[in-house]
Amino acid sequence: MEDWSGFLLKIIFNDKIPPKQQLKNIILKTSNLFTFMDFKRPKDYMKNQDFLKGYIAYFVPVNLAKTYSLLKELFKYPSIFQKKDIKIVDIGCGPSPAILAVFKLIREGITSINYIRYIGVELEEKAIQFGREMIEKFKPEKLSLNYEFLNTDASDIKTYVDLKEIKPDILIFSNSLGEIFDARGIRHEDFLKFIKLFTYNNDNFSLIILEPATKKSASRLHALRDILIKEMGFYPYSPCVNSLPCPALKANNWCYEERKWIPPKYLSFLSSIGLQVNYLKFSYFILRRDGLNIGDTFSADSMIVKNTSHLLKEKGKSRLWGCWNGKLIDIERLKRDYNKEDEWLKIKKGCYFSFNHFIELSEKKIRIPRSGSVRVFYCPEIVSFNCLSE
Ligand SMILES: C[S@@+](CC[C@H](N)C(=O)[O-])C[C@H]1O[C@@H](n2cnc3c(N)ncnc32)[C@H](O)[C@@H]1O
Repeated sequence: MEDWSGFLLKIIFNDKIPPKQQLKNIILKTSNLFTFMDFKRPKDYMKNQDFLKGYIAYFVPVNLAKTYSLLKELFKYPSIFQKKDIKIVDIGCGPSPAILAVFKLIREGITSINYIRYIGVELEEKAIQFGREMIEKFKPEKLSLNYEFLNTDASDIKTYVDLKEIKPDILIFSNSLGEIFDARGIRHEDFLKFIKLFTYNNDNFSLIILEPATKKSASRLHALRDILIKEMGFYPYSPCVNSLPCPALKANNWCYEERKWIPPKYLSFLSSIGLQVNYLKFSYFILRRDGLNIGDTFSADSMIVKNTSHLLKEKGKSRLWGCWNGKLIDIERLKRDYNKEDEWLKIKKGCYFSFNHFIELSEKKIRIPRSGSVRVFYCPEIVSFNCLSE
């Protein structure tokens, strides 16, 4: 069976694999569009052949890996894993990496889904065309799939009114929130109206929003999270383990994920020219209405801390910023207090953990003493980029 990344290159470059230099140029061009023009990108950048090619070569695999990682986290929940059919609405779907991520999860047995109803909403016909080709090529054989693309404007409430009858299990905005809402200056109140349409009589509903790891995008995301929880009765599934207001936002700080990734081979040369290909960086939330939380899948008693930073090694100690009971706490452990095989040293960015003793050093700073032991419950796993078709 054909490797999906080879297929991807082939359809972008009409059966000829481009020389590295050409690949590098279009990827850099597209990446600059996102890095330096951020909120000022031309609305129809996917119409430009080079941008579309660069997007498909680089951002499709990156965003596929990100959505894969999040959906894998969601399907960790036993009752969600057991679901046999699922309805997904993907807003600003672009070339549809999100549905490809579901295909990968099905092939790996990470979900028991055998029927998907998928609706992608997208303004750019070219992106839709590519999405269609990928779906046709990589749909798992045993899967029953009913899919369609709506070539329509996602900043218009009518789009959501038309979609509400579907009662999607998952409504996803993957890297599209900024683009859709900035162009029209959509406000939080408008967004709430859109979302409300999907919540009526739909207890299994998951809202997934994934945004770039920039302070501006992440802060907007955290603010939206707080409002959806406060005003619409949502609960976080992940990354947060409680419904308290986001402490990063309160501290004018921001929270993002950094997950290890093994990219497709044709992208690995990019690290030597300064493009990040070994880590997936993004900010996100998954919200639900039924109160299920990723923490329920750990065998934790009561305390769960989410590490929001790297483990920072300093002279005589190491420390990290833990999100705990609605506060960002500076947690340290002295080197002299390390145990043999200390779990503390295994904590990576994004891990969930607990400890049984601590000393309060100040309101926002604690130390785990020698007598304290640490338990790591779950760390986001490495996303490996195997074939989609195996
Ligand atoms: C950065 S891309 C994200 C694509 C895909 N979801 C992903 O994760 O790779 C944003 C997409 O939103 C689409 N978009 C922007 N404004 C839109 C609107 N008002 N209605 C529908 N789609 C829109 C763009 O055409 C683009 O394909």
